[in-house]
Amino acid sequence: MVDNRLNAGEGGNPIPRHIAIILDGNGRWAKKRGLPRTAGHAAGAENFRKIATYCKNIGVKYLTVYAFSTENWTRPKEEVKAIMKLLDKYLHEAITTMERDHIRMRILGDVSVLSPELQEEIRETNEISSRYEGFQANICLNYGGRAEILQAAKRFAADVAAGRTEKELDEAKFGGYLYSAGLPDPDLLIRPGGEKRISNFLLWQCAYSEFYFSDVLWPDFSTEELDRAIAEFNRRERRFGGVK
Ligand code: IPE
Ligand code: IPE
Ligand code: MG
Repeated sequence: MVDNRLNAGEGGNPIPRHIAIILDGNGRWAKKRGLPRTAGHAAGAENFRKIATYCKNIGVKYLTVYAFSTENWTRPKEEVKAIMKLLDKYLHEAITTMERDHIRMRILGDVSVLSPELQEEIRETNEISSRYEGFQANICLNYGGRAEILQAAKRFAADVAAGRTEKELDEAKFGGYLYSAGLPDPDLLIRPGGEKRISNFLLWQCAYSEFYFSDVLWPDFSTEELDRAIAEFNRRERRFGGVK
């Protein structure tokens, strides 16, 4: 059973239990500085490290970030290659951090098409995560909301056909077939980088998330910005379709 209670942060402000962030604006950040887009991705990865640590320290339980979408493969080959190289470096380093700080990490997305090195790192991060409890970072990699829903429908149908499950289906059971199985829905979804769209992120899970858009480009998105997003979240009245 998922516990949806919020932690009390500094000053008694509730801290969202689950924050999701679309890591957008790396390319423009680099361009503004006359740097290659890759430099923006490196700065973005560094900022993820900082924000994840901050989230852990203020009592967020789950941080889910959109790092590479199913549509991002359409980018120039060199950029995709550079992003994959950065992910490889990041995951490699993360393994040490996870052991040290008892952090859990999960990759959401179709990882079967990633390089053997990346897949091995993902296997290792899963293994380490199984030993700890507490803060969990989820990295969406080769992730698409539609692809996620489609693979869930296919796996469910296959299970029914094979007699592994009953044909009755409800939202909770379907949720168990998603990449996000077992995670509570995001309370707060943040999109830095100025765009006001969802870009195929967590389509099922964001049904009742609060959205926060910021013009700040992701590599510049500071802990103060995050505080502002949380403060705004706390000013919202969540009704979930009811009356208050
Ligand atoms: C987000 O930054 C990172 C990925 C999608 C991999 P972008 O690369 O989309 O940066 P902009 O939007 O071009 O500035
Ligand atoms: C969304 O950003 C995907 C990730 C951050 C991984 P994009 O830059 O790919 O989104 P669009 O193209 O602006 O919608
Ligand atoms: Mg973008």
